[in-house]
Amino acid sequence: MSIRVHIGGRICLPEEAKISVFDRGFLYGDSVYETIGTAYGRLFALQDHLVRLERSAERIGLRVPPRAEIEKAVADTVAAAGNPESRVRIILTRGAGKLDLDPAAVDDTQMVVIVFPLGPPSPAMYEKGVSVAIVSVQRNSPNAIDPAVKSGNYLNNVLALGEARRRSGAYEAILCAADGSVAEGSTSNIFIVARGEVRTPGLDVGILDGITRSKVLDLCRANGIPLRETRISREELRGAEEVFITSATRGALPVTKVDDSPVGDGKPGPVTRKVMALYDVLARAGVP
Ligand SMILES: Cc1ncc(COP(=O)(O)O)c(C=O)c1O
Repeated sequence: MSIRVHIGGRICLPEEAKISVFDRGFLYGDSVYETIGTAYGRLFALQDHLVRLERSAERIGLRVPPRAEIEKAVADTVAAAGNPESRVRIILTRGAGKLDLDPAAVDDTQMVVIVFPLGPPSPAMYEKGVSVAIVSVQRNSPNAIDPAVKSGNYLNNVLALGEARRRSGAYEAILCAADGSVAEGSTSNIFIVARGEVRTPGLDVGILDGITRSKVLDLCRANGIPLRETRISREELRGAEEVFITSATRGALPVTKVDDSPVGDGKPGPVTRKVMALYDVLARAGVP
């Protein structure tokens, strides 16, 4: 199990990977990123992640290296790390320059690729489910740092997760939008099952267009699972029959506690287990 970093055009050990203190990613969170997981030894949905990376970069006016260059850096770093399953983080920063907030002051995109062993969730977490807490920290307004942009400015989410962990030791924080409806987790999208129907907040609520979320939506549509993208209140989340969260490195992960109260009978429910099984079939087949 090892970590390798692609930085400055070469692959190195984590302790050798250094970035300038003048880098705007470090100074201002002026960067975009993606986290990709492998499944059955292959990168899952790499192309979807690269499209979203390019979209995020375009939204903040950050120049992106050619896609082939990023793909090669990812492939080479995954191979160098040699883990059975990997978590890959691609970071693009605007680069280093003078201490000047103006983004036009610098155009020196730096690409960093970090490959870790995949790590948790453990099988027990999938079997028993995890806990979430609805936090007071609000999801950013789409008029501020748009949640649709996967930028390196994650302080809001950092604080949200801190609140959830401090308050109840919850595994994930659930943030609400300005209208009070449920938005998403600090690093995940959220789904509930109500009256046998899978429901998830629509993109118009102001959330990240999760790659896993969209795969789950496709799987529900293709398999006749009733589905609705809709606003979800806190009460609906607390009273849901089933809850699960999704992200690239976790797939679909059952939630069995919301704000210290059990969801349904406190065990992952049948619809969640069905979605997990369908997702596993997709992961086994592979998505380029
Ligand atoms: C805020 C937020 N929402 C949702 C997700 C899930 O997105 P994906 O399925 O593309 O990993 C993430 C992943 O990191 C995230 O940070």
